[in-house]
Amino acid sequence: MAMARVPILIAVALVAAAASCSAWEPTIRMPTAEAAAAAVDDAVAPLIHALRPLLGSSGELGSRGGVPCDSWRLGVEAYNVRDWKTVPANCEGYVGHYMLGSHFRRDSKVVIDQAIAYVDSLKLASNGKEVWVFDIDETTLSNLPYYATHGFGARPYNATSFDAYVLEGTAPALPESKRLYYKLLKVGIKPVFITGRTEDKRAITVANLRSQGISGWMNLTLKQPGFHGSAISYKSAQRKKLQDAGYVIVGNIGDQWSDLLGAPEGARTFKLPDPLYYIG
Ligand SMILES: *[C@@H]1O[C@H](CO)[C@@H](O)[C@H](O)[C@H]1NC(C)=O
Ligand SMILES: *[C@@H]1O[C@H](CO)[C@@H](O)[C@H](O)[C@H]1NC(C)=O
Repeated sequence: MAMARVPILIAVALVAAAASCSAWEPTIRMPTAEAAAAAVDDAVAPLIHALRPLLGSSGELGSRGGVPCDSWRLGVEAYNVRDWKTVPANCEGYVGHYMLGSHFRRDSKVVIDQAIAYVDSLKLASNGKEVWVFDIDETTLSNLPYYATHGFGARPYNATSFDAYVLEGTAPALPESKRLYYKLLKVGIKPVFITGRTEDKRAITVANLRSQGISGWMNLTLKQPGFHGSAISYKSAQRKKLQDAGYVIVGNIGDQWSDLLGAPEGARTFKLPDPLYYIG
């Protein structure tokens, strides 16, 4: 019985090899870039039939009449798409579904799970000098209640209405980030907030954080009046002050790349998702 199976297996292997050769050959001969791209689709499809309906060229999520929104969002998160002013008009609904459905929460959970695993892997000195930098907006507190009624980032930024919302002090904490925050307090890493919010919003920011169960930070740094530099220069200068004062930045988390770039970045950085707005 076992002996009889061997030739059959060889025959199956030969047929499979022949099939995959003929599937790939046209790719090599394709002359144009468009044709090559089409050929990759055609070549891959027979090998992964089940994925074809999900990844086919007509399957871009939320691309109705404009850019494919899932590709745009990936470009944003990977810092390939920069300096954008508003969410593409056709992606308002996509971003709304992403933020209000489970997708944003799931993506945030992956980030925080990684951050907590990283914390668990550290050999802490526990000398009171170990700190973790948090951004506030869309990192610790969520302004989604505002954005949900103002076009999910698809309308131009309105400082008047946004400030009015911030001054209500009702922004909910992001649950995943709160999990990390509590973990850090538990292991003796001191949270430090460095926010682009301005000094005049200190009282409401403190009240908002406390009302959401967030307290016990070492330092809350807000932007001083008269500072007009970039977010990267402001935030990296504040981190440098921490370092110069003898603190070790074991981690740094933000929703914008400008929270994370610029030396000293911190021993590890974590980027939370944010398809609502861009701060350079
Ligand atoms: C910005 O918001 C304020 C307050 O809601 C509103 O009065 C104003 O018209 C808005 N500006 C623009 C350009 O939409
Ligand atoms: C806040 O951070 C600075 C360094 O940027 C440090 O010198 C200062 O002592 C800190 N404040 C508190 C209350 O720990």
